[in-house]
Amino acid sequence: MKQARGCAHGKVILIGEHAVVYHYPCIALPIKELQVQVDIQVAEEETLTCDLYCGPLAQLPAHLANLACAIQKSKTYCHCQDTLAFTVHSDLPAERGMGSSAAVACALIRSIFHYCQQDLPSDVLLQFINEAETLAHGKPSGIDAITTSQNEAVFFIKGQALETISMNLDADLIIADTGQLGDTKEAVSWVASQAQKKETKEALHQLGQLSLEAKLALEQKNVKYLGQLLNKAQVQLERLGVSNATLNDLVQTARAAGAYGSKLTGGGRGGCMLALCSKEKSAAVYAALQKKAKQVWKFNLKEEG
Ligand code: PMV
Repeated sequence: MKQARGCAHGKVILIGEHAVVYHYPCIALPIKELQVQVDIQVAEEETLTCDLYCGPLAQLPAHLANLACAIQKSKTYCHCQDTLAFTVHSDLPAERGMGSSAAVACALIRSIFHYCQQDLPSDVLLQFINEAETLAHGKPSGIDAITTSQNEAVFFIKGQALETISMNLDADLIIADTGQLGDTKEAVSWVASQAQKKETKEALHQLGQLSLEAKLALEQKNVKYLGQLLNKAQVQLERLGVSNATLNDLVQTARAAGAYGSKLTGGGRGGCMLALCSKEKSAAVYAALQKKAKQVWKFNLKEEG
């Protein structure tokens, strides 16, 4: 029986979320350890099996229209008329700011092109993920599509050429999940509704400046300073109204346990936060967050060799 597979991975935004929608820079990195895999088999009925749904594609709930879009666009492009069953295996929690929707769309698209044995140009892949993300999030900046589909950390300004950036730091990145569903679409719409206010404009501008400084800190491998910039970004995100009490608590917990810096990551109002830590402190920060968070991951930012 003909089979095929497509893969993608998670991502986190280090700094610059929300501001990136308004053409300010942001820095994001792939989380290759957290994988999404889609397997395709020929079937009698077109179906999708994933954490959020299991059943016929024709009855997919409206909130998963992004996935139907990714499938339909890819099948049309590849002139594929076969009836397919899609099975999604994902390490990523859904709607937590770790790029789950973009990664699943990416893996679905790749699986269909693999099934059809067609080359998938990277601009077509990004276009299809972004079309799916528009249904999921309303007005995506495009950062999730890029970081879930490629292997490098990026300095990204919407509409401009991508710059890859080295994350090779003698430090650990810890990510903690509040266990609360984030709502990126709602948070992005909220910021848009406030976008004419002086306070909002200032916060977005500050976030953009902090991303520029973070790029320098990364180039100089100055982790302490980078941590301070993350803390400053959290202040601006709170000012924007996209943090919440649980995120604030985890952010403070990480700092109290010795992190260089910590902030929410992604759309906010739930979802995940991240903390930058020295190798010496990371076990303590991990343990402190584990007492409060639904799930905690630790990633070594130091590249081997
Ligand atoms: O919640 P996530 O991981 O999809 O990240 C959203 C990031 C925003 O800047 C808030 C929106 C965007 O499209 O960039």
